Amino acid sequence: MDAQHDVLVVGAGCAGMRAAIEAFDAGADVALLSKIHPVRSHSGAAEGGINAALGNASEDDPEKHAFDTVKGSDYLGDQDAIQVLCDEAPNDVYQLEHWGAVFSRTEDGRIAQRPFGAAGEPRTAYAADITGHVLVHVLYEQVMKRDIPTYEEWFAWKLVENDGRCQGVIAWDIVNGGLKTIGAKTVILATGGAGKLYQGTTNAYSCTGDGMAMALRLGVPLKDMEMMQFHPTTLSPTGVLITEGCRGEGAYLLNSEGDRFLERYAPNAMELASRDVISRAEQTEIDEGRGVEGNVLLDLRHLGADKINERLHGTRELSMVFAGVDPIFDPIPVRPGAHYHMGGVETDLSGATALEGLYAAGECACVSVHGANRLGGNALMETVTFGKRAGAAAAEWALTNTTVALPESAVTDAERELDTLLDREVGERPHAIRDEMAQTMHENFGVFRREEQMRRQGEIVAGLRERFDRVVVDDKGTVFNNDVTQALELGFLLELAACMVEAGLARKESRGAHARPYDFPERDDENYMRHTLVSWNGAGPQLAWAPVRTTKWEPQERKY
Ligand code: FUM
Repeated sequence: MDAQHDVLVVGAGCAGMRAAIEAFDAGADVALLSKIHPVRSHSGAAEGGINAALGNASEDDPEKHAFDTVKGSDYLGDQDAIQVLCDEAPNDVYQLEHWGAVFSRTEDGRIAQRPFGAAGEPRTAYAADITGHVLVHVLYEQVMKRDIPTYEEWFAWKLVENDGRCQGVIAWDIVNGGLKTIGAKTVILATGGAGKLYQGTTNAYSCTGDGMAMALRLGVPLKDMEMMQFHPTTLSPTGVLITEGCRGEGAYLLNSEGDRFLERYAPNAMELASRDVISRAEQTEIDEGRGVEGNVLLDLRHLGADKINERLHGTRELSMVFAGVDPIFDPIPVRPGAHYHMGGVETDLSGATALEGLYAAGECACVSVHGANRLGGNALMETVTFGKRAGAAAAEWALTNTTVALPESAVTDAERELDTLLDREVGERPHAIRDEMAQTMHENFGVFRREEQMRRQGEIVAGLRERFDRVVVDDKGTVFNNDVTQALELGFLLELAACMVEAGLARKESRGAHARPYDFPERDDENYMRHTLVSWNGAGPQLAWAPVRTTKWEPQERKY
């Protein structure tokens, strides 16, 4: 064993850092491990804000926030988890403020809040349009203040189970090479999403579903994996996020005829309808020939230069740098892109998974507060509130249990597996498989889903997994061998793709992000107001179902 801690947090974005801080403050010896530097985590790409019922812009309270979230989830969110999120959110945001988060302000100095999609009140607290960036830096300051050790640029490859519990991680040291083993009484996964499953995505290169796949390989079920959210405004052609905050500030969506086409899809909510609704509307406009070179247009011009520069300066810069469009003068070409996985490692309200000693928080987890459709601004909040809860629970468990033992065979097996990969001289390079996976997931498991396309995608993914068994890594070196880590990531992604297709085929209804307009256009609460749970049976995914936990909200019709 190269090191040992009470609590090891894998992933150092908002959820991971918040978990580590809480575990440290509870008295645990905690460390972070991340394949990238913490401030480069994808949480930093969250732009528009974080939801909490502070009531600074209107009469608001956690109950309204909870109702909006339940409804927004298309009644697939677990209502007890949603209640926890919404009740704890205000204090958690004030704590971030007290730690130094520079939120934008109202005239009288309180935290400003802007409208976001499907929210009944303006409750998204923000720092211009760089909220995630600000929060990542604030949390990193708190990590540094506590001197929490961080294994930076270590790629977590395997969780180690011994004696029926998770007791550590095997990681590849990216800077120096070599496998390293870290023992821990508890491990918290906070590795983020898997947007790189798709060609067009807002997600960073690092979002390869590592934590979900590692948990899956140990028999921990993944919940609601079919629920991949498409964000309506991703910049063409790169997929960079153009924040919902633009529409919160009043931007319009236009088709090629200059129409605010949402009048026909969501006449009351218009540009502030929920993401699933707007993504479908955009895709329909594009498919029916009213797009502009495969996009629709996001028009900010009427907001004026002052407002754009004050509240959306990051958006302006992204648009100018990556699309050559200055939104003060021209509309931005946007289209739906894979943005957020509502599904993930199944956890309870403390982040505990089915495997003792293993916890998860943030996008890699499914607690489930987002159900079939996440509200913008609820993801950052989830990272903080459930990161905190997972950190507390993992520390409590670790402080009352003493031993860590990692079997030698776990390490030798991992070394043998890696040697097999590195020793292979003939075979296929990973990038072609990766590109094919991302392109076909986009085509066959995107905004709209058809039975026959999903079936074909299942076959495609099975074929890609066979090809992956013969994959060749050219770089045999030890220093910054991204060739090897990208191959391992591809292995993770392919298994997750198989799980998504399995769950998608089983859900024979339309709910939130899972839209089957051609065969099952309606939501079917009687048969499908329940979660998919996918486990890995050695050869492939195996499906089960779990009930949605409801408390007081009965399902209602949901249009926007
Ligand atoms: O559009 C956005 O700013 C994204 C926010 C979110 O996904 O929560």
